[in-house]
Amino acid sequence: MEKIDNLFDKIVKIANSRGFVFNASSIYGGLRSSYDYGPLGALLKNNISGSWWKDINQDSKVSIFPIDTAIIQSSEVWKASGHLAEFTDPMVDHKPTGERFRADQVPENLKKEDLTEPRQFNLMFETNIGPVQNENSAVYLRPETAQGIFVNFENVQRTMRAKLPFGIANIGKSFRNEITPGQFIFRTREFEQMEIEYFCRKENENEWFDFWVNKRLEWYKGIGIPEEKLRLREHEENELAHYASKTVDIEFDYPWGWGELEGIANRGSFDLSSHESSSGKDLSYFDSETNEKIAPVVIEPAGGLTRTLFALLCSTYDEEVINDTTRTLFRFNFEIAPVQIGILPLSKKEELIKVSNEIQQTLQKFFRTEVDVTQSIGKRYRRQDEIGTPYCVTIDFDSLEDLSVTIRNRDSMEQERIKIEDLLDYFLKI
Ligand code: GAP
Repeated sequence: MEKIDNLFDKIVKIANSRGFVFNASSIYGGLRSSYDYGPLGALLKNNISGSWWKDINQDSKVSIFPIDTAIIQSSEVWKASGHLAEFTDPMVDHKPTGERFRADQVPENLKKEDLTEPRQFNLMFETNIGPVQNENSAVYLRPETAQGIFVNFENVQRTMRAKLPFGIANIGKSFRNEITPGQFIFRTREFEQMEIEYFCRKENENEWFDFWVNKRLEWYKGIGIPEEKLRLREHEENELAHYASKTVDIEFDYPWGWGELEGIANRGSFDLSSHESSSGKDLSYFDSETNEKIAPVVIEPAGGLTRTLFALLCSTYDEEVINDTTRTLFRFNFEIAPVQIGILPLSKKEELIKVSNEIQQTLQKFFRTEVDVTQSIGKRYRRQDEIGTPYCVTIDFDSLEDLSVTIRNRDSMEQERIKIEDLLDYFLKI
């Protein structure tokens, strides 16, 4: 694909105009860096997370248990994990305007101006539980889904009779009071994560680390992000988080350059041993065959669902000039596309609408479909291109005679005629 001018602005615009992502509270002027996912965005997000679950739950090489943990946990969790003490960013104020920046993100033109000394700012959102506010009522919105896994390690291992190596996967909202959120949904204060903690023996840590880096990279390609838009980058020693001995980021080529999409970290036994000493509960693994107590090592592939959605929008957006007009499209693959099949009766005549509705009733049991009856057929094809629908089925007056319809392929724009009775089979074979 050719490089597209002003890609970022185009994505933001189309995401809003076509119902993928809206600015939150827009009727009140919007809330900065907070977003709502519209009908197509909600579907797309669902399809991405569905693909993630499927990829890890239906792979015979790994054993993964799903979990869905609370956003608000005991504050002890964040004390033990190190987040209360360490999950901070250095912040500076620009004295003349009072604007606040992360120390490493001060705009070039302000760097020489009057800035305060950096001070540490905790990124967790604090709130209070119950009607009385006192020093014991403070709780925090989770800044990562990972800790919900560690504090349930024993519950899952015992109830599922899990044997090493095994993983626990958690997906959901996380919250960080980012000092400088921005770049649309790339960095927000409320976002969704998809995290796996894979528990293994120390002697196998490198093998599993490489396995997960490779598996996650392949998944991003599989959902339709082109290989040349992805790369791996290992963290330097001084970048490593307090819990990690090794981290490799899967980076994406965003409109402004390379940046993190997912991090795969070797967290050692840091988390389980911290929670063990803080809670007093035994969080070791007992190997009944060798009668040994083991402290499992953890490999963590930690991805962002909302950030993946953004990367997918950026890397599948395309423009083509045809007969002096530009058609814009998202080249979503069939599995991920919010709408998989557009059903377009040529006119609003009752006989055609009836056939369209019958076709939809058959197809929508298996696929995400949309019947569109407004505007000229050319305009409707363009709209379906714009929202990334891979196929359109057009019902015309001949359809009433030959019981056939036209299938139009989004990418090649080729059309083929097919019997209505063969439609379902055609799409099931894709
Ligand atoms: N448990 C480890 C952990 O949370 P992280 O690198 O801080 O690691 C993992 O986060 C992923 O979550 C990131 O690679 C990114 O995709 C996503 N993420 C983190 N902060 C985000 C934010 N403010 N907005 C959107 N996505 C974010």
